[in-house]
Amino acid sequence: MITNVAILASGNGSNAENIARYFMSIPTVKISLIMTNNQKAFVLQRARNLGIPCAYFSKEFWQDGTVVLNLLQSYNIGFVVLAGFLARIPDIILKAYPQRMINIHPSLLPLHGGKGMYGDRVHEDVLRCGDKESGITIHYTSEVYDAGQIIAQYRCEVKTDDTPDTLATRVHALEYEYYPKVIERLLSS
Ligand code: GRF
Repeated sequence: MITNVAILASGNGSNAENIARYFMSIPTVKISLIMTNNQKAFVLQRARNLGIPCAYFSKEFWQDGTVVLNLLQSYNIGFVVLAGFLARIPDIILKAYPQRMINIHPSLLPLHGGKGMYGDRVHEDVLRCGDKESGITIHYTSEVYDAGQIIAQYRCEVKTDDTPDTLATRVHALEYEYYPKVIERLLSS
């Protein structure tokens, strides 16, 4: 049986593309849809290049959720992956995908998470706090930002001469390596 997966992303979409490419060689998983809340997001271009259907929804549509949910259901989406998605997920969609919607956060939650903690702000906060390690957290989504049940965490060193950029590069490498594998594991269990 094939699981149709949707990826939600708000910006660059390098994780979305990495995941899409990973599953091209796995016949039981199909990345069927990429959605964004940002009309200018580069992920839209990536989706077109990959030949994956993509859709943009304005803030009003996201907040209501009904049309978004209808689209997910019309593609028979069984699993939803958030990869750099910055809007709150409406309750109607959360309820439709219990334990079937996951997110990635570029720190070791509960450290450096919560509303407003995204992108470079996370890495700046890690450096400001003088943490010796950082990493990624993959977790189920919930009504509260970055607070859903943790599925997996992977760690990397924080170097004394790190900048937010150098740390982000190390954290991204963990994301590229592990996010597709965790998705594959969840879909096969
Ligand atoms: C990633 O670091 C992810 O952990 C965070 O947002 C970033 C998205 O990067 N939630 P990209 O758009 O996949 O390049």
